[in-house]
Amino acid sequence: MLKNIEELNGMREAGKLASEVLEMIGSFVKPGISTGELDKICNEYIIDIQKAIPANVGYRGFEKTLCTSINQVICHGIPDFNRILKNGDIMNIDVTVIKDGWHGDTSKMFLVGKTQAHNERLINITQECLYKGIEAVKPGARLGDIGHAIQTHAEKNYYSVVEEYCGHGIGKIYHDEPQILHYGLANSGQEIVEGMCFTIEPMINIGSKFTKLLSDGWTVETQDGRNSAQWEHTIYVNESGAEILTLRKEENL
Ligand code: MF3
Ligand code: CO
Ligand code: CO
Repeated sequence: MLKNIEELNGMREAGKLASEVLEMIGSFVKPGISTGELDKICNEYIIDIQKAIPANVGYRGFEKTLCTSINQVICHGIPDFNRILKNGDIMNIDVTVIKDGWHGDTSKMFLVGKTQAHNERLINITQECLYKGIEAVKPGARLGDIGHAIQTHAEKNYYSVVEEYCGHGIGKIYHDEPQILHYGLANSGQEIVEGMCFTIEPMINIGSKFTKLLSDGWTVETQDGRNSAQWEHTIYVNESGAEILTLRKEENL
């Protein structure tokens, strides 16, 4: 669904709140804290300070505010008071906030203490993949151009792109059409038009692209046990490109 200016302003506010959750939680991410505690802090911040709604709570039976995906976990890791962060872990925190019915969905990678150089490289290249996907967005381009830009950059760096999970249209509906694949062919797929809102959220693996779903029904891991990274923004397509609705102050774009 295309957004008019009033709807865009609703999306801007939701996106800003989601980005502020990631900014707020950063100083708490340290060895010794549990992902359950991080989740509780964000839940209370969204409800009590932002006067907003944590979209993941109750979504298809998910019970937490955040997804906390550590090391070989690709996405949808469940916060847990028994999972204590340790030095060297890498973790994605993914949060979606609902404000006035509008959704803002974003995630970033956190380094816990000091991590190995190969993990930092994965994290940085994956963020570049997100940015290259965003740069491919403009009216008249096609959705395949986004996936192509991401896949090309990942594979040039000897990484693989997860195929089973994708970005999505977003608005009053959390996961709407169209699907935004993170791989694909240039000049293929649906045309991008002004007024669209969608997420781009590439999951990039050091090893093979294959995934496995754990028996909790949510946690997705790499089949080979090697690490994975993800970054996500919610964007709006304007007359010349993408407006990033979930941009953080630390990003110099
Ligand atoms: N925020 C995730 C996404 O980027 C979806 C999480 S659904 C949950 O689309 F239920 F696992 F929280
Ligand atoms: Co998303
Ligand atoms: Co998300």
